[in-house]
Amino acid sequence: MKALVLSGGSGTRLRPFSYSMPKQLIPVANKPVLVHVLENIRDLGVTEVGVIVGDRGPQIEAVLGDGSALGLRITYVPQEEPLGLAHCVALARPFLGEDDFIMYLGDNMLPEGVVEIAGQFTADRPAAQLVVHKVADPRAFGVAEVAPDGRVERLVEKPQDPRSDLALIGVYLFTAAIHRAVDAIEPSPRGELEITDAIQWLVEQGADVRASLYQGYWKDTGRVDDVLECNRRLLDGLRRDVRGEVDADSTLVGPVVVEPGARIVGSRIEGPAVIGAGTLVEHSHIGPHTSVGRNCVISGTQLDYSITLDGAVVSRVKGLYGSVIGRGATVEPSSHGTDQHRLVVGDHTRVEVAA
Ligand code: G1P
Repeated sequence: MKALVLSGGSGTRLRPFSYSMPKQLIPVANKPVLVHVLENIRDLGVTEVGVIVGDRGPQIEAVLGDGSALGLRITYVPQEEPLGLAHCVALARPFLGEDDFIMYLGDNMLPEGVVEIAGQFTADRPAAQLVVHKVADPRAFGVAEVAPDGRVERLVEKPQDPRSDLALIGVYLFTAAIHRAVDAIEPSPRGELEITDAIQWLVEQGADVRASLYQGYWKDTGRVDDVLECNRRLLDGLRRDVRGEVDADSTLVGPVVVEPGARIVGSRIEGPAVIGAGTLVEHSHIGPHTSVGRNCVISGTQLDYSITLDGAVVSRVKGLYGSVIGRGATVEPSSHGTDQHRLVVGDHTRVEVAA
């Protein structure tokens, strides 16, 4: 079996971060979402991975390389325009050949993994096996109507009036039968070749299409609040691992990871929290549920339920909560007096200050 990971897309919901980085590289527990995805794929014993990339491809390649660091062999497949998930399958055809494959959206987190579901697929080899999850409002998803024996009776992309609460959550297993379906469909009203339509075509041809319920934690990390939530969830599974330096005036409480080369000076870190390599934390209170990236400086600051990306500097700021601070960004008190705020804020950024 091969894997096809979709990492194109513009990530408009993840602005401003997606202006400068592909949304799949946003870190959760200090590791890009895309790396979590690839580790899940490796857990299936799959090593041949095609990665669909858009115009941010070079940044993704810079992080993943040829995949060998993850024990994978990666083939990059460029997609010039985001023309749909089924379009990705068509582009990857030369890579996929006639092999079975798992298709995985590069911004979807399923930390409990899909080993069991993939095992069922390999044993039974239906034309398609879809991973579904019960959601409160299925209208934003492809929705599956499933018979009691797990056979899919109908699929509808983003129905106004959903007839089931089983949403497609971005992981699909296919045999080569999907290629005929992709060739048979037309673009949807939003101008995309929808994988949902291709699978529905298989259903209509009488092919064996099944759905498997994923009951673990699932998150589409498309929005900042989802990234924070997912970060909290992953940090909850953290185990203490201190490789950096912690001075005698500092206290670490609970599961705290201090990566090599990080220094903690006169600070209190409340786990679960992770402090990235090369970062300095001084006279600060960090955590719980906080990830500090690599080579940051956090000084005289109180930071809770937050994420700072690599190279961020946060100085003398109390009460930061639910914040995501971008690469190389600086947050510090105003030099114009204590009752003034000075903001140099990029496009589509969100700032909430105490009134
Ligand atoms: C895509 C699929 C949809 C699926 C969703 C999962 O939607 O078309 O069926 O439920 O991913 O995240 P999109 O994110 O392209 O709107």
